[in-house]
Amino acid sequence: MQNMLQNNGKQLKSKADVSGIENLIRATLKKHKSPFMMIRRCVLEKQYLRFRKCLPEVTPYFAIKSNPHPLIVKTFIRLGASFDVASAWEMMNVLRLGATPDRIIFANTIKSVEDIITARKRRVKMMTFDNEPELYKISEHYPGAHVVLRIKVENQGSVVELSLKFGADADSAIHLIRKAKSLGLNPVGLSFHVGSQSKNVENYLQALEISAGIFKESKDSGIPLRIMDIGGGFPIQHFDNEIGINFERMASQIRKQIKMLFDRKVKFIAEPGRFLVGPAGILVTQVIGRTFRNNKNYYYLNDGIYADFSGMVFDHCKYEFKTLRRGHKFLSALAGPTCDSFDTLSMNAEIPELYVDDVVYVKNIGAYSSASAVANFNGFPPAKVILI
Ligand SMILES: Cc1ncc(COP(=O)(O)O)c(C=O)c1O
Repeated sequence: MQNMLQNNGKQLKSKADVSGIENLIRATLKKHKSPFMMIRRCVLEKQYLRFRKCLPEVTPYFAIKSNPHPLIVKTFIRLGASFDVASAWEMMNVLRLGATPDRIIFANTIKSVEDIITARKRRVKMMTFDNEPELYKISEHYPGAHVVLRIKVENQGSVVELSLKFGADADSAIHLIRKAKSLGLNPVGLSFHVGSQSKNVENYLQALEISAGIFKESKDSGIPLRIMDIGGGFPIQHFDNEIGINFERMASQIRKQIKMLFDRKVKFIAEPGRFLVGPAGILVTQVIGRTFRNNKNYYYLNDGIYADFSGMVFDHCKYEFKTLRRGHKFLSALAGPTCDSFDTLSMNAEIPELYVDDVVYVKNIGAYSSASAVANFNGFPPAKVILI
């Protein structure tokens, strides 16, 4: 009985949530032309506070590659976040918006000379590396920089694999840390990335164990490290009924591991992207054409794979397509507006029958979507980002 009440309560709440979101979409459509990406400020705040609450000893450096929109960056500056940047362009972006250099990590293990010089000029001291040639480059153009060694760790079960291209073997860590020191750099810590949308907490636990071993070895060889960067990868729910994602539980296991393996003086940081901005985004598109082919209804939307659904390619992401119509659902195809068959979004979306101008929207699409959209391919502009 108790359960039934709870379930009913949940259902009522989720129905209220749905109608709240749909009313918001209707209201916004009166003011803005679609496609648009609504970013809900209250959700950015909620996710940031959730991260802080669940991992209080870990300082979040928002990975702005997930969505560099200035209003999002400003929101995180106001909340007191730090930033992970991948290039001088991103660095200048967050600095211009008011972040201070001491709150930035240049977290790309391969940096151009020009970008290293920009970091020096802008006093962004902390940067990652994972190989010796990079150390020579940094030491020449930014002597004394604070370098963080990124190690390769398991990415098992993560949707986006990041260890293929980055990370030094743990076996070579001490050699690289010593090398950094001998070149006049300041080796301050370690970092890893377990892969994006990592539902598997074991990746973090194992990576922390390996890192703790390197911390000890480095201390024993006279180079104590003080920063442990646990990267990004924290997963979000993309579908309403998706199971197996529980950030709170994951964070509590990570905390336990940190407490068990590391000295209290070690400073922990992380580079969450998707977790902070993904749930805040709702993409609103409209049907611009429809036809019946291959035995199903095809609906052509005014946004597609080259623009705000680019995450289907680059982020390996799948989305839940929703409409404002109710009624019997049919297996239908959804496609973007460009003259390319590749621009097909789904061959089996379960949706009611739609007409031209009807809305198709997707929740939890704030990360790796507009960030990787191509401007004006075939003349179709990406969605306007609206912070609400
Ligand atoms: C170095 C680095 N840090 C952080 C992130 C953000 O990861 P996520 O969005 O999974 O939190 C990425 C994503 O590619 C990355 O490459």
